[in-house]
Amino acid sequence: MTDPSVHVPTAGVAMTAIGVALIRERESRRPDRLYDDPLAAAFVAAARTGFDPRRWARLEELADQFFEGRSLAVRVVDDSVTEAVAQGCGQIVLLGAGLDTRVFRLGLPAETVFFEVDLPELFEFKEPVLAAHDARPDCVRRVVSADLRGDWAGALAGQGFGPGVPTLWVDEGVLNYLPRNDAHAVAETITGLSAPGSRFGIGRFEVDSAAPQYRALRELVADDSAAVRPVNGLGPDSESWFAEHGWRTVFRAWNDLVAPYGRPGMGDVPGMGTVLAIRE
Ligand SMILES: C[S@@+](CC[C@H](N)C(=O)[O-])C[C@H]1O[C@@H](n2cnc3c(N)ncnc32)[C@H](O)[C@@H]1O
Repeated sequence: MTDPSVHVPTAGVAMTAIGVALIRERESRRPDRLYDDPLAAAFVAAARTGFDPRRWARLEELADQFFEGRSLAVRVVDDSVTEAVAQGCGQIVLLGAGLDTRVFRLGLPAETVFFEVDLPELFEFKEPVLAAHDARPDCVRRVVSADLRGDWAGALAGQGFGPGVPTLWVDEGVLNYLPRNDAHAVAETITGLSAPGSRFGIGRFEVDSAAPQYRALRELVADDSAAVRPVNGLGPDSESWFAEHGWRTVFRAWNDLVAPYGRPGMGDVPGMGTVLAIRE
């Protein structure tokens, strides 16, 4: 039965965050888990109440199809957050934070300020679930309820973002939902807000948007049919873009990144991995 106090995003891009929570919930149940995210189960249980059972089954099916790569990517980002904090980043900004819970589970230093940027409809679902579970962050958590296609930088400043503090910016699956121009506008804004030593981590993957699982994802998201099209995101030449805008980049091949975790990689696709840009 639907819990009337919970507004579940059952369509649109905010719904994709529930798919990733399903993946984290499944990973957390494994004896050989790469991370433990107990709140993922809380989000999944609360979300399920809002879905028609057939639609929920489609979402679970999609989460299965994306599980291997997506779950490994969560652990890769976990490690990049810990590393950036150890190297002096005092702020973290998660772009399209979704139902991420790193602020509750990574044991970050209390003085770290962690900004979660996402759409209002996402936080309408996330915040009541966190409150119901009395979730307490290890460090300072700031919610930035804003659209990345609008004045999200103003909303970020309103939550106390300090442009003089080295910052880690994380794109974990949101820029590819934005048309190329909007994604570049986000990167330009970030460039203007980044003190020297700031980091920006983005994935570089060969996405075959015509593949069945991407088609199924588009159909399920439905009201945003432009999502996951090749014209989206920063594109394959993001490293040149960063170089032209005052960032130095380090490319890390996916198979090298995930080798320590003892899970299958994604085959040998040259150029697939993460780009870490460091502000000079
Ligand atoms: C695939 S989910 C990933 C969520 C999270 N990063 C994770 O890995 O669990 C994409 C997220 O981007 C958010 N998003 C999509 N378009 C957005 C926009 N224009 N502005 C802000 N957030 C957006 C969605 O609401 C959703 O939470």
